[in-house]
Amino acid sequence: MKYLEPHMLEFPQNGDERGHLVVVEGEQDIPFDIKRIFYIYGSDETVVRGQHANCKTQFVLINVAGRCKVKVCDGKGNEAVFLLNKPHTGIYLPSMVWKEMYDFSHDSVLLCLASEHYDPGEYIREYDEYLRIVNEGDK
Ligand code: TYD
Repeated sequence: MKYLEPHMLEFPQNGDERGHLVVVEGEQDIPFDIKRIFYIYGSDETVVRGQHANCKTQFVLINVAGRCKVKVCDGKGNEAVFLLNKPHTGIYLPSMVWKEMYDFSHDSVLLCLASEHYDPGEYIREYDEYLRIVNEGDK
């Protein structure tokens, strides 16, 4: 599988006097076939979500309303913070990155597109375990 870095995506806004319509198609606008969709709302600025890595699943996260921040790190010292605050932008997250979503606005609706069906067994929820796995190949 080709490894892609986390990066922002921008989708075309099909806007006219009636408003906007944003289309995201799997394997076109989204760099994988979409197998699962979930969305997160009712969080606020006190909440931190995520705090896990996925062995297999890639995600695209889109704040279709409101805003949040996404902190991504690779367990090797590289870290970046992305702001999601536009319904026509998203962040691509490859597998095996540690991610945290935080600083949610009260009106935040965070749409999450996933490349795999849900499998709790592919989630790494302990940061120490994540560090061990990503760094064990470097020994
Ligand atoms: P969790 O992974 O803790 O959410 P977040 O990544 O935002 O911190 O998931 C919250 C709950 O929802 C947990 O009980 C697992 C469940 N869940 C599913 O059943 N299916 C899914 O696809 C996801 C993402 C979560």
